[in-house]
Amino acid sequence: MIYITRRETFNAAHRLFKPEWNDEQNLKVFGKCSNPNWHGHNYVLYVTLKGEVDSETGFLINLKDLSKIVKSRVIEKLDHKNINLEVDFMKGIIPSTENLAIGIWKQIEKPVSELGAHLHCVKISETENNFAEYYG
Ligand code: NI
Repeated sequence: MIYITRRETFNAAHRLFKPEWNDEQNLKVFGKCSNPNWHGHNYVLYVTLKGEVDSETGFLINLKDLSKIVKSRVIEKLDHKNINLEVDFMKGIIPSTENLAIGIWKQIEKPVSELGAHLHCVKISETENNFAEYYG
């Protein structure tokens, strides 16, 4: 079994809040990330696949194919966007790092399996110090 990881980056805006709470409650729970006028992060995404090495190519899969899936299904939807307002797969979901990792997993799991590999981990960092990992 071998694991291989593709790294991608994107910038996006968000706000962590529950609409049924007032600004004060949201600030108490979500801190600066609940700023009503949004704020941005430079996100780093790591997509890790696992499988067996193809003896003919020496690859698990061609990383170009993985990159195409991640770009079309994730990066193009998120990059320079407002996650709360513009990203279809995050509609109605609080855009925390955890929920983003789960949302991204759901976006790519099927097409990755069609490449003949298994999705192992979606890791996403929101800041240098905070990241979430989802294993399905
Ligand atoms: Ni934030």
